[in-house]
Amino acid sequence: MKGRIRRAQGADWAICRALVPEACGRTDCPIEGLILHPESGPRVGGAAVLRFDGHDAWLGLRVVPPVRRQGLGSYVFEAAVEAARAGGARRMVTAYDTLAEPGAQPFLEKHGFEAVTRITTFEANFPATAQILGRMRDELVARHRVPAGWVITTLARAPLEAVAQLFAAYVAQREDLAEAPLRLDREAGRWDRSPVILENGRPVGALITEKLGNVWKVEGRFVVRGYQSGVANAILLGAAVDLGMAHQASHFRFESRDDNRDTLKLARRMNARPLRVRTRFELALY
Ligand SMILES: CC(C)(COP(=O)(O)OP(=O)(O)OC[C@H]1O[C@@H](n2cnc3c(N)ncnc32)[C@H](O)[C@@H]1OP(=O)(O)O)[C@@H](O)C(=O)NCCC(=O)NCCS
Repeated sequence: MKGRIRRAQGADWAICRALVPEACGRTDCPIEGLILHPESGPRVGGAAVLRFDGHDAWLGLRVVPPVRRQGLGSYVFEAAVEAARAGGARRMVTAYDTLAEPGAQPFLEKHGFEAVTRITTFEANFPATAQILGRMRDELVARHRVPAGWVITTLARAPLEAVAQLFAAYVAQREDLAEAPLRLDREAGRWDRSPVILENGRPVGALITEKLGNVWKVEGRFVVRGYQSGVANAILLGAAVDLGMAHQASHFRFESRDDNRDTLKLARRMNARPLRVRTRFELALY
């Protein structure tokens, strides 16, 4: 043992929030914190926070840089596993930006976790992106691949409730967005410039976008079942870059899962650089 671990209480939660803010956000489920006091070096060497959600224990863990690679992370982790089991969890789950935290994946894999999903946030320069995506859309239009009844508009002019419902269904499938404030019906105006495809007045697809500074940011998308999502996506992306150019955006930001080959291919073509790689890890406890 190279230190002492104790359960967080009272003012310790300020330490937990500072060290593992990612695990302290939710207040609607039981939470437990562990504080590490190393034998030498800083008074507090790290912390772990567990959030119990059904059979899952969500783990946040951080060791401060001066005392890393001395086995302290593993020491805290073992205490966290014990606490998770004692709390009735059957699985441990965590998610880290493995680009910003290069130690996370090797550390977690060493402790038996498996990386189950990986979502990369890309950013590309606008003019080049607009050229590639605009051309892709124009080729489909020229080849008459776009259904005649489609009208491309923006969320400001589309039936908000219907789009919000379809988007909520999309968000519900995305665990990483579960806590994101993405309620289209709540924040009127925020996503007004998102392109939407209507067919006979009914939304069939949308790319939810907003302008953050100079960045045209894609929050998510949906295309209703039964429609060719490839064509719809190309149309939505083409419309999004037209809107971005018209509003003087300098960068286009979007996400892709590891298994979305089309988007990853597009990212390469656009010379997009990865900003963040959010990787979800799981470990069965029984
Ligand atoms: C990941 C983290 C907790 C590791 O803490 P630590 O005290 O350095 O971990 P340990 O000394 O117990 O490392 C155990 C093993 O994990 C692996 N490991 C840890 N950090 C690593 C790194 N930066 N690169 C490669 N492997 C690493 C090694 O196999 C290491 O064994 P070794 O030192 O004998 O080679 C720490 O780097 C950290 O707080 N990072 C930022 C937050 C984070 O990524 N949290 C994810 C964990 S939920």
